[in-house]
Amino acid sequence: MKPQAYIVGVGPGTRDFLTERARDRIARSQAVLGWDLDLLPAKDLLAGKEIYLQNVKNYRELALEAAEKFRHTDARVAILRIGDPCISSGLRGLLDLFKDYEIEVVPGISSVQVAASLARINIDEAVVVTFHESGDIQERMRFMRDGLLRGRHLLMLSGEELRPDAAARYLVENGINESLSVLVCERLALPDQNIVETTLGGLGEIEAHWLTVIAVVQPSGKGQGLERRDYADPVSTS
Ligand SMILES: C[S@@+](CC[C@H](N)C(=O)[O-])C[C@H]1O[C@@H](n2cnc3c(N)ncnc32)[C@H](O)[C@@H]1O
Repeated sequence: MKPQAYIVGVGPGTRDFLTERARDRIARSQAVLGWDLDLLPAKDLLAGKEIYLQNVKNYRELALEAAEKFRHTDARVAILRIGDPCISSGLRGLLDLFKDYEIEVVPGISSVQVAASLARINIDEAVVVTFHESGDIQERMRFMRDGLLRGRHLLMLSGEELRPDAAARYLVENGINESLSVLVCERLALPDQNIVETTLGGLGEIEAHWLTVIAVVQPSGKGQGLERRDYADPVSTS
């Protein structure tokens, strides 16, 4: 029998965004791999499991170590990823690393979905861009600008490669209307969640938290307003 790997989306932070299926796959695994933030929504399920806690120094080696350790067993390994594992979570690398395993990818609620719900926009009317993965950053900046020029909303995952303020300045300098509405969604579904409404011009002056999704909203999407609710659930994440 082959080992099993579950690549599990755990939602944006709070336990009530963790699906039943995700809980089940984590509960039946004997080993769990993930970063601190990935483990947070599932922390009540981790007792007695072998934990591989990734960080900025060890994340490659540790993933390799876990994959090697169980490759010739019938173990079940849960690889946890914040939000949805099919959005900016290194999915291709994980599929490759665990290729001898039977793999199930378990969808989760993405920070992108939560930001879209707060901004009251359709994701299919937006472009989604991440600055979290390596690759051609210039190309992604042009893609973002082109999407806005074509009347799409923008959902941007901030990352080391391009901070939101720099992205906003680039967009304004390259022909995008600085008065477009922007929702800055910091640390969604975490106890210190912070949501700021501004404009594209205003975003150029804001130093956002690294865990932020930016929604740039086209006027046609604004009709329903930006009224929103607070998703943070301090009880489950403390
Ligand atoms: C490595 S990517 C992972 C995205 C994740 N798979 C998802 O579906 O949300 C990390 C980026 O996702 C966004 N992100 C993830 N969780 C977030 C949260 N709780 N609040 C705000 N942004 C979040 C931020 O842009 C962060 O820099």
